[in-house]
Amino acid sequence: MAATRTEALPAPWQPVCRLDDLADGRARGFATDPRGDDGAFVVKRDGGLYAYRNLCPHNLRPLEYAKDRFLSADGSDIICYAHGAHFNIVDGVCSYGPCLGERLMTLPVRVHADWIWVALSPVPDQASQ
Ligand code: FES
Repeated sequence: MAATRTEALPAPWQPVCRLDDLADGRARGFATDPRGDDGAFVVKRDGGLYAYRNLCPHNLRPLEYAKDRFLSADGSDIICYAHGAHFNIVDGVCSYGPCLGERLMTLPVRVHADWIWVALSPVPDQASQ
């Protein structure tokens, strides 16, 4: 169920899922265009939320190997399954693999009305909202 109209944040914020529907140590992809491909994903870890474009800096392709499978088996890293790059969950920097030192594209993420919201483009200054 989507957030109600009165609870909705203005663009560019997009609802992803209810906060309680994403377990700690898990990731969830979500559609960013009308084709429905998961163009971005959010990770919950130790209570923090981190959102990234689903685009590996190595070959500019999606990272996951199956729906919502963005993390290593132990949940410690984001993985690109094309060539095995590892990325830090907190800052998106590649710590192992062919794009060492490069980073995933970070997206603003927040919680509003018990939902996770991600901004797909720059967010206007908070003071002007
Ligand atoms: S495309 Fe991601 S590691 Fe090569």
